[in-house]
Amino acid sequence: MVREAATGQAIERAAAALRAGQLVAFPTETVYGLGADATNPVAVAAVFAAKGRPRFNPLIVHVPDVAAAAEIAEFGEHAQQLAAAFWPGALTLVLPRRPESRIAELVSAGLRSIAVRVPAHAVAVRLLRATGLPIAAPSANRSGHVSPTTAAHVEADLNNRVAIILDAGPTSLGLESTVVDVTGASPLVLRLGRVERAALVRVLGQPVPLSGGEPNRPAAPGMLARHYAPRTPLRLGAREVHRGEALLAFGAAVPRHEGVMLNLSPSGDLLEAAANLFAHLRHLDGLGATGIAVMPIPEEGLGEAINDRLLRATRPA
Ligand code: TXA
Ligand code: MG
Repeated sequence: MVREAATGQAIERAAAALRAGQLVAFPTETVYGLGADATNPVAVAAVFAAKGRPRFNPLIVHVPDVAAAAEIAEFGEHAQQLAAAFWPGALTLVLPRRPESRIAELVSAGLRSIAVRVPAHAVAVRLLRATGLPIAAPSANRSGHVSPTTAAHVEADLNNRVAIILDAGPTSLGLESTVVDVTGASPLVLRLGRVERAALVRVLGQPVPLSGGEPNRPAAPGMLARHYAPRTPLRLGAREVHRGEALLAFGAAVPRHEGVMLNLSPSGDLLEAAANLFAHLRHLDGLGATGIAVMPIPEEGLGEAINDRLLRATRPA
């Protein structure tokens, strides 16, 4: 039985599991989260595998206080005002990511921004402090299911995919956090949630539009985040390398090549490939190659999300 009452001992064991790269489901005041060490790319890849999501949506990083948030993201004036007013609480801030941050690229799906939240739930905060790590956590449901507000919901969805489910009863708010993008000159709401837009407006003293509200900024549901796209053209399904191309390989049977090669997973492990995807793409994109030849990735398990992202990277953002 992985579901356990969130006693001090259970929290300590959950913290140890997180530090060892395992997944832990934990309560927050909004919904239960599916947590992983945000600095461990393979653990973060396991979150996507457990959710069965066919694409890499960026995840929210949970930290115990503003000081910990300031270590991974840059706080401008709007961000400081919102954090002071709503943290700890049901507000997620999308901020510029600190370049020196050790957060895995996969957490923000290759973007230069990072979503951060300080939760108000005592168990979540104790877990974060016991772990001593930033925890990446989407809602703890399988893809396509609703967000879980009880540990039993989590158990029904993810039972054999997590090391432990910390049970602290039903969540008090029951609705996800409001996500606000403060990376630009004026703040934008990316996802409506428990903090009302009027409250944001009161704190900032200016309008806070909903992303996609303007006709020239259409928002597709579930695709609120802009995605990372390399400038170097990608050639997918490549079985040979053309002159001038860099190679993004997968598996042991690598074609002959003259230029730079990075391998997503020499052993053909999709979890490892997902963990390496954005860092490898970014590295190869910086070489000034004429193109990036990408070897075929099997369309199974995490391969589906990897292929989705590669396909979208071949199109303009
Ligand atoms: O209440 C909540 O927010 C819960 C608890 C566990 O904290 N978490 C949650 O996470 O709902 P998730 O992964 O289900 O939703 C995260 C939202 C998504 O809409 C995602 O696109 C957005 O945050 N997001 C995360 N990082 C982003 C980024 N760098 N830029 C834009 N949007 C981002
Ligand atoms: Mg969710």
